[in-house]
Amino acid sequence: MSHQIPADDWFKAPSGGERLWIGLALAWCLILTLMMPYWHFKGKQNSTGEAYRVAPADFAERVNRFVAANTVGEDKGVAVVAPPPGTDVYLQAQMWRWYPVLKLKRNQTYRVHISSLDLNHGFSLQPLNMNFQVIPGYDHVLTLTPTSSGDFSIICNEFCGIGHHLMAGKIIVED
Ligand code: CUA
Repeated sequence: MSHQIPADDWFKAPSGGERLWIGLALAWCLILTLMMPYWHFKGKQNSTGEAYRVAPADFAERVNRFVAANTVGEDKGVAVVAPPPGTDVYLQAQMWRWYPVLKLKRNQTYRVHISSLDLNHGFSLQPLNMNFQVIPGYDHVLTLTPTSSGDFSIICNEFCGIGHHLMAGKIIVED
């Protein structure tokens, strides 16, 4: 028979090694749970959560205005844009590119607006491993202060179709 009612005394409290491992797993669960609020307040790379609704076409228009006003060159066919420190900076995600290339100054603060024109992309800044979701219809504002100079890659870490693996961008930080 496949169904049987277990005997009344079926439950045996864990003991010995089983008890120890359950205890360790529980302790680790509690530590990881507490890490979430801890990093929310102590993490240095957290978003403030500042975000606005924006129609993709309106965002694209802001990006184009921003690029037209601040372009300083070109990198493999993509505009390189150097905005004045302290200003609003725009970064647009779409299948399958990041636009434009940003040129920022070290130790200066920028308000970086990030949004997508089509579907969900993942902003992943390498080699620093900062990660943010890029969602169409939302203008996600990151208050960003680069603390080291050099070339940083933006890769997409949210699968977005056949060209996902080609979706790479760049942020250049100068001293
Ligand atoms: Cu964009 Cu994957």
